Amino acid sequence: MTRLTLTPLHPLIGAEVAGLDLHKPVDAETNAELSAALSEHLALVVRDQHFTPPEYLVAASVFGPVMRQHYSQYNMPDHPDIGVIRHRDGQEPASMWHTDHTNRERPPKATMLHGLKVARGGDTSIASMRAAYAALPEAERQYLATLRTRNGIDDHRTDVRSEDREKYDVPVYHPMVRTHPEHGSNAVYFHITKAHCIEGMTPEDSKTYMTDLLVRMIRPEITYQHEWRKGDLLIFDNRATMHRAHGDYDRSQDRELWRLIVEGDRPRLDLTAA
Ligand SMILES: [Fe+2]
Repeated sequence: MTRLTLTPLHPLIGAEVAGLDLHKPVDAETNAELSAALSEHLALVVRDQHFTPPEYLVAASVFGPVMRQHYSQYNMPDHPDIGVIRHRDGQEPASMWHTDHTNRERPPKATMLHGLKVARGGDTSIASMRAAYAALPEAERQYLATLRTRNGIDDHRTDVRSEDREKYDVPVYHPMVRTHPEHGSNAVYFHITKAHCIEGMTPEDSKTYMTDLLVRMIRPEITYQHEWRKGDLLIFDNRATMHRAHGDYDRSQDRELWRLIVEGDRPRLDLTAA
């Protein structure tokens, strides 16, 4: 049996996990501990994991079955479930706050990033949408609970392959407040460029409201900023967080992260939840 030690990385979000080597099989008890730690801390960091692609896929399955990512041009040719984040390839850092793949009926429960080559700068920030929800005025919490977003592929992307658009740009509706299926708490839930509109609002008004919400909600008090070390594995819970990439590094540095997403539930709102 593995004994995990969790050290908080921020007063409100994020913990470093010691005593875990994901190159080895994980028993059921450890698996349950990890799942509970993710629901509670929302972001976990495991240091010194140096995976090959097949090892990474096995390690990720501890958190759930791996899902295919939709911008297929960035998926690893021999291991297409792994997305390669390498801005030297012409990719733009996802610098706006978002949660992943809301254009899917069952968006990913968690995203994992593995630091292969790291740079000075290029951090990843994660904010607790559970804490953001709790800090909103009661009237706004009630208002948000009545809203749903209509989601598709990011509205600003011009590099989407036609086969990906065909498969993944089908309208999907999600509540703007989501109840965590394991933790039972509520969190604000939307992706500002995949939500093409809020039901009953124009796309322009929807964007204005979501932008204003982000400005009001996201503060250092609810945000953990991860400074990458080679071999880091960062896992975050997409059901109650948003994240963003910091593009503030010298692009002559060869930075490379491998991304995996794991299957999640259909978002739902339980009005009796906190
Ligand atoms: Fe993302």
